[in-house]
Amino acid sequence: MNPITHVAIIMDGNGRWGIKHKKSRNLGHRAGLITVERIIKSTIKNKIKYLTLYAFSTENWKRPKKEVNFLFGLLDRFIDQKIDEFNKQNIKLKVIGNITVLNSKLKKKLKKSEYMTKKNSRLQVNLALNYGSKSELINAFKKITKKKQNINVKNIEKNLYTSNIPDPDILIRTGNTNRLSNFLLWQMAYSEIFFEKKLWPAFNEKDYRRVIKNFKKIKRNFGSI
Ligand code: FPP
Repeated sequence: MNPITHVAIIMDGNGRWGIKHKKSRNLGHRAGLITVERIIKSTIKNKIKYLTLYAFSTENWKRPKKEVNFLFGLLDRFIDQKIDEFNKQNIKLKVIGNITVLNSKLKKKLKKSEYMTKKNSRLQVNLALNYGSKSELINAFKKITKKKQNINVKNIEKNLYTSNIPDPDILIRTGNTNRLSNFLLWQMAYSEIFFEKKLWPAFNEKDYRRVIKNFKKIKRNFGSI
């Protein structure tokens, strides 16, 4: 049976769910956050050590300003309300992505939360914020060149946001869309991918358990036979 160390998720479909059920994309994002909490609990229950959530991509800035502001407001309040609980539950928070462009108050809050939880070991939640795989790779190559190091797998991996994090075993993308959207392209070379029809706010623990069960049945050979 395949062990599971790391699950990555593209939480797609909030907007469509919001329009359908609440006539508002933003209320879909709010509902999506409830799913985030549900899935974090379930990840702990399943003894999975890493969960990476695609919360905001480098391309999401193209959305209307009102929606972008709503998303970052949601994140800000989420941190305020949940960080102590995260800490009590021995959860480590790590941000991956270029957060230098975020407002300084939120940036400080994220840094403080990372610092506060850095020794926690039950689950590491990686929040992908202003994350794009292509810019992550360009960044890594620039750092390697600057340090006059060789370009090889080990050095590239050491210079990614995800250094010291094992590659995802599973990628789940909800929302009935079959693409990777510039997410962890290097790290997912051998991940098992599950495209789910349900929109993210409707995705539940039972769906998650089914994915895990199906993953365990897969023969992973990593290029061997
Ligand atoms: C994609 O759905 C979702 C996002 C771009 C944002 C994800 C954000 C959350 C789940 C809530 C905030 C999370 C945290 C951790 C604070 P979409 O808007 O592209 O949906 P659509 O395809 O139906 O338009």
